[in-house]
Amino acid sequence: MEFPAAPARRGLVPWLGVLPSVFLLTLWIPPTTARFAVVSTSALEGQDVILHTHNRPPNCAGFIWYRGDKTDYNHFIASLTLHSRRSVRGPKYSGQETVNLDGFLTIRKVTLKDTGTYTVIAVLENSLREIGCGQLDVYRPVSVPTLLASNTTVTENEDAVVMTCHTDASSTNWLFNATSLRLRKRMKLSQDHRTLTIDPVRREDAGNYQCKVSNPVSSTESAPVELDVKY
Ligand SMILES: *[C@@H]1O[C@H](CO)[C@@H](O)[C@H](O)[C@H]1NC(C)=O
Ligand SMILES: *[C@@H]1O[C@H](CO)[C@@H](O)[C@H](O)[C@H]1NC(C)=O
Repeated sequence: MEFPAAPARRGLVPWLGVLPSVFLLTLWIPPTTARFAVVSTSALEGQDVILHTHNRPPNCAGFIWYRGDKTDYNHFIASLTLHSRRSVRGPKYSGQETVNLDGFLTIRKVTLKDTGTYTVIAVLENSLREIGCGQLDVYRPVSVPTLLASNTTVTENEDAVVMTCHTDASSTNWLFNATSLRLRKRMKLSQDHRTLTIDPVRREDAGNYQCKVSNPVSSTESAPVELDVKY
């Protein structure tokens, strides 16, 4: 079994150099839906991440990992040959990646730049190969949002109040007295959920409002804004 090393030594074309046509001929697509794939993963910046695979075929001889969805030498990160435990590093090796004996790729201390597609080839005995890919998304922790109200002392049935959650997070939810806000008919959320309008206010709206923002790996809440309703 040949694993990618440096390109063409002694005039030989390494097998990576003749992709993708070789691939199409030898790629083995299992007859079931149990396709070999990289498990798509979300992570917080600075974490160590393990990119697992689903449905690893039996009798693997080794694994080759690539950054992106292309399997040419320029995208090659690292490979591992199981019987010899020999690993080879490629142009996309950054010093943080390791292929382990299960064929998973560990990336130490991920950064936002590690976000993207990863492709793995499982090299089987009898020179068949299976290819799988998946996505890694790296996020920063969301910052604490600021909640501002148009007015915090309002009169029942006369006034409206507009609350705005200042955030750049992708998801915003609202809390009333520390539990999820139940939207009433008089309440309206903007399309991005960052603005809450209560029109008119009623005495039962009095209490503490917060917005809670999140991304796939972290969440945080604003300081509470207390709404006082006179009647
Ligand atoms: C807030 O509402 C109260 C009661 O209706 C009103 O008297 C006050 O002027 C409002 N304050 C602001 C800043 O709009
Ligand atoms: C919400 O909290 C405020 C202040 O603690 C309290 O006066 C009010 O009764 C609470 N409202 C509800 C519906 O729990």
